[in-house]
Amino acid sequence: MNTPVGIHDLSFATTEFVLPHTELAAHTGADVDKYHIGIGQRSMSIPAADEDIVTMAAAAAAPIVERWGTDRIRTVVLGTETSIDQSKAAGVYVHSLLNLQPSTRVVELKQACYSGTAALQFAMGLAHRDPSQQVLVIASDISRYELDSPGEATQGAAAVAMLVGANPTLIRVEPLSGLHTSDVMEFWRPNYRSTALVAGQESFSAYLQALEGTWKDYTEQGGRALHEFGAFCYHQPFTKMAFKAHRHLFSTAGHDLDEGRMSAMLRLTTAYNEVVGNSYTASVYLALASLLDHAGDLTDRPIAFAGYGSGCVAEFFGGTVVPGYLDHLRTENHRYVIERRRPIDYDTYRALHSRSLPEDGGHHLTPRQTTGEFRFAGLSGHKRLYEHS
Ligand code: CAA
Repeated sequence: MNTPVGIHDLSFATTEFVLPHTELAAHTGADVDKYHIGIGQRSMSIPAADEDIVTMAAAAAAPIVERWGTDRIRTVVLGTETSIDQSKAAGVYVHSLLNLQPSTRVVELKQACYSGTAALQFAMGLAHRDPSQQVLVIASDISRYELDSPGEATQGAAAVAMLVGANPTLIRVEPLSGLHTSDVMEFWRPNYRSTALVAGQESFSAYLQALEGTWKDYTEQGGRALHEFGAFCYHQPFTKMAFKAHRHLFSTAGHDLDEGRMSAMLRLTTAYNEVVGNSYTASVYLALASLLDHAGDLTDRPIAFAGYGSGCVAEFFGGTVVPGYLDHLRTENHRYVIERRRPIDYDTYRALHSRSLPEDGGHHLTPRQTTGEFRFAGLSGHKRLYEHS
């Protein structure tokens, strides 16, 4: 029998600042229930001037490296939509900040919000090939839309780090995946833009059609029946989308849905995303963190994962919760990273949103704002500078 492979550890980090949707609503004039109930969001993580996808990624992965050491990590795969360089992989900075072994391969993956799932799947292949090796998978993103646009209220930021390897302590990932790709333009970000372009209504239907496509492919290959899954972790651009996706999946499969049971189960997966906002590649694994941290004992329960990245690529797969997993959770630390964020007012948020980095190749230091362990210290000669306190 093949050695089981999957998620051995999971840890997430988010930003220094948080903007409550009450504060946003007070200035946009929207009814706050549109945010709280309509899209299911309560606050959004806002990065300080000296935070970026690298500092969040390092902060997410540091506790994993501290617990398990670096000896077996021979690959780092970082998925992001918020790339900081056209050439250099953000993971190389993370590798340096965490003092990983030089004998490591590091690469960055891109496909909108999907590349966290791609990173996990590629890591699975590497761990199956050589069960003595571990792969550090990181999904790190800052979601940014135009100010005063419909997408604004769904912004957010977070990084999830996962250690993938043989005999995992958390989730055995099953090898069968349902896949779907189609060439659509409902959310994209040309290289010259720092905010995403989006066609809101088209993005709903592209997400739902892609989910349907993955389910069809999954069942055609003899995957599990829907009722076998104890919980469903969806990509959550805003948490209400998980409910829309779940209804669509059940109707596609021709199953009746108990709304009460569905709500109770899905709410276990939305606790972090509803206060963090859209973290793109990280969002489906933030849903998993929320589920593991808030559900009762899930031992041996199969969990469904539905990743989606606009443009679009989607993947549906299952995993089983490993006996003893409760001893390896980081629930307290996850609560801390959410609660330590400092609320900011609307003007501070707008000022942070409007910041851009100078492009003149000079020496520019970023103001010290974060109290976190890692910071983006500035630019010098077009090179990014990072500090580890
Ligand atoms: N009280 C309660 N509910 C209210 C309300 C109120 N006062 N006012 C409005 N609502 C409800 C609406 O009825 C609606 O709910 P339903 O969809 O269930 O009917 C919900 O709040 C949102 O209202 P609108 O549709 O009017 O909102 P909008 O058009 O201003 O913006 C959006 C919604 C299009 C999703 C926008 O947030 C957006 O563009 N988001 C970015 C794109 C996105 O996230 N797409 C999701 C799929 S793509 C993807 O998943 C990739 C990714 O990460 C981006």
